[in-house]
Amino acid sequence: MHEISNALLEWYTIHQRSLPWRLETDPYLVWVSEIMLQQTRVETVIPYFLKWKEHLPTLRSLALATEEEVLLLWEGLGYYSRARNLHSAAQLVLEKFGGEFPHNVTQLQRLPGIGEYTASAIASICFNVPVVALDANIKRVFARLIDIEDAITSRSAKKQLVEFGKNLLSEVDAGELNQAFMDLGSLVCLPGEPDCMRCPLNRSCISYQNGTQNQRPVTRKKKGSPTYQVVAAVIQKEGGVFLLAKRPKGGMLPGLWEFPGGKVEVGEDDTTALVREINEELDTIVSVGNLIGEYHHAYTHFKVIVRAFLCELIGSQPRALEAQEIKWVPCEQMREFAMGKVDRLIAHALCDLDVTSS
Ligand code: ADE
Repeated sequence: MHEISNALLEWYTIHQRSLPWRLETDPYLVWVSEIMLQQTRVETVIPYFLKWKEHLPTLRSLALATEEEVLLLWEGLGYYSRARNLHSAAQLVLEKFGGEFPHNVTQLQRLPGIGEYTASAIASICFNVPVVALDANIKRVFARLIDIEDAITSRSAKKQLVEFGKNLLSEVDAGELNQAFMDLGSLVCLPGEPDCMRCPLNRSCISYQNGTQNQRPVTRKKKGSPTYQVVAAVIQKEGGVFLLAKRPKGGMLPGLWEFPGGKVEVGEDDTTALVREINEELDTIVSVGNLIGEYHHAYTHFKVIVRAFLCELIGSQPRALEAQEIKWVPCEQMREFAMGKVDRLIAHALCDLDVTSS
């Protein structure tokens, strides 16, 4: 065994994090955890994973679930295409592979939502296929261990990472080694300032010897993301029901419910924008009343500032021109409608619910 793998696995025996998916042997649950962990922190994922396992314990139960159920279980995790991909991949595995996950990386990568990293993680953890799962954590650790000077996203860096990984894999459980690197990356070899004094690999770490560990990995500067001003209408009808619209397929957050509205265009004030949006989306007229709240949210490539206004319907009954459907919903039923973060906050503000409760 390579001396780095040996030292790391020894450290891992003592320091590994106890994580619920590590107790699972069913590839279905490991797959769910890996999809949840894409772009999301471990502490955030744990309660979602446990709730998911309780409601959809088997691949079959997921394949047979409705989109609404799946989106509700996912609500708050963000990047909702992950949930839709999980759903359609479960149906595919059930139909095409009789409910058995393929074991090799190439076949796994053909399933929706499974890229090279996730395929390698599942194959190594569930089937002990000897591959390194290069996520951002492991790339950072490797970039320091071999002191990669090239930008971590460059082709030459990728080649060095893969080559180095291959050398570590002989005579080891690849799934265990990958997870040991993940833990080292999360507990010791942190972004920014690594805790080299506590690192079991410091004697083998070239950047530590060169004093360059804080400059690794080398990253290209990110472009700033734009901020959009958005307005949303809270349209209330007698009987205390509110109008929700289900977002169209093919755009952002498809299938999630929202308070209708949209972007404020250049030269518009909030009222003009909201009246126009409601007319375009719902073929009706509203009069715009008081501000309910302002909400800031960051997506991957842009940020939004959403202002929600109480509105009164003064035109004809709304029709779903752009939305998949619209519904009048009382507060007691708001929880049954899957929403993005901002719309859930608006719903809580309206219905005076405790935002911190699950
Ligand atoms: N991030 C992605 N996969 C993980 C795993 N199996 N354990 C801990 N963190 C992870």
